[in-house]
Amino acid sequence: MSETAELKLPGQTIELPIVVGTENEKAVDISNLRAKTGFITLDNGYMNTGACTSAITFIDGEKGILRYRGIPIEVLAERSSFLETAYLLIEGKLPNQAELDFFTNRVRRHTMIHEDIKRFYDGFPRDAHPMAILASVVSSLSTFYQHEESRSEADHFSLNTVRLLAKLPTIAAYAYKKSIGQPLMYPQNSMSYCENFLHMMFSTPAEHYDVDPLMTEILNLLLILHADHEQNCSTSTVRMVSSSKASLFAAITAGICALWGPRHGGANEEVIDMLTQMRNEGGGVRKYIDQAKDKNSKFKLMGFGHRVYKNFDPRAKIIKAACDKLLSKMKIADPLLDLAKELEEAALKDSYFIERKLYPNVDFYSGIIYKAMGIPTVAFTVMFALGRLPGWIAHSKEYSNEPGNKINRPRQIYIGEPLAEYVSIEKRK
Ligand code: ACO
Repeated sequence: MSETAELKLPGQTIELPIVVGTENEKAVDISNLRAKTGFITLDNGYMNTGACTSAITFIDGEKGILRYRGIPIEVLAERSSFLETAYLLIEGKLPNQAELDFFTNRVRRHTMIHEDIKRFYDGFPRDAHPMAILASVVSSLSTFYQHEESRSEADHFSLNTVRLLAKLPTIAAYAYKKSIGQPLMYPQNSMSYCENFLHMMFSTPAEHYDVDPLMTEILNLLLILHADHEQNCSTSTVRMVSSSKASLFAAITAGICALWGPRHGGANEEVIDMLTQMRNEGGGVRKYIDQAKDKNSKFKLMGFGHRVYKNFDPRAKIIKAACDKLLSKMKIADPLLDLAKELEEAALKDSYFIERKLYPNVDFYSGIIYKAMGIPTVAFTVMFALGRLPGWIAHSKEYSNEPGNKINRPRQIYIGEPLAEYVSIEKRK
């Protein structure tokens, strides 16, 4: 017989089923709690709340484990390509050669965006934040692909998946080109996914541009490392929006917006801002560590800490090695990297960070890599979005295919005024 939990409430005791995952994670299933007792659970910030069961990604934050569909991130980082990883996440299994070729070719054939979309870029202010452009243009895709009733739901989802994967790099690169006043470069479908993105970002019609193989390799790695991270803020947002049966484009737009914030994907941008400020102000890393520890200060060490990883972030380990490789091969001496290393070393020895299990997260080193690649700081979160896209799509698909799925609608405990009188305006104080 499966285990149950006993819950004692005033005047009643009830049994609740225990759900056990394949990695022995345990949850108390409270789905009938309100119906049986009138109580709900309260968990601000969802620190203890499982919103769903999922077969996509496994994380053990204590042991520093991250696996996509059971495969360790370290193995994928070494052996896979971003598109293969995307297929794995979305389809639930590694593709065979024919499946991978078909999927890759399909993505290649959808890289262009409608010529009318290009005109949107003329309307955005020159200094528009690229995440705002990304969200706006992805949202607008719904307007270009709205009359497709003849397709089955599955075909529709699969085509829109391909469109999103293919077009997001183009949309992102156009945002960058617009910001620096250069002509938008059309995609080159003979190139690999990552080569094509670097080409659209950095080539111009005026001269030949060779895509650097090392940059391609490291971009591929970064995208794989960011591809999914189970129920984080943006992914939960995508599931939430998908639960209303809004379109995939709408759900992904919401995910992009959620990712934008500095507590989430925006942190990689903040890491560089913080390191730049440290370099400009001087005074050594100790000053900033002390400030981060001071409860009267709002300052936090950006790129440190994680809701789930309380040991180390396995992605940060891989990225750190990639960062060293890129900078040494490109012969870049970056004072920000030296500062980052100094900061990391000092923080890891500090009892405040040790006690709270605060380690560098994925954003700590990714910003330095993007900077070395020539990607402007303001576009770092866009790079994160490019990587996270397959995860968002996989979760939207998983949610939508769940039999009997319901609209996501949390409850609350109301703490406002009890029944109040409508006072006419002349009598109000
Ligand atoms: N610098 C200084 N102190 C910190 C930091 C930090 N970066 N992060 C957490 N703390 C402290 C908190 O003040 C708190 O201290 P207390 O127990 O004395 O009150 C304790 O560590 C626990 O922190 P919480 O904020 O409760 O942890 P939570 O899980 O809610 O937050 C978060 C995680 C948001 C990532 C947080 O660590 C943070 O703000 N880090 C900086 C931003 C960042 O790097 N974000 C990227 C996250 S990774 C990603 O999205 C890909």
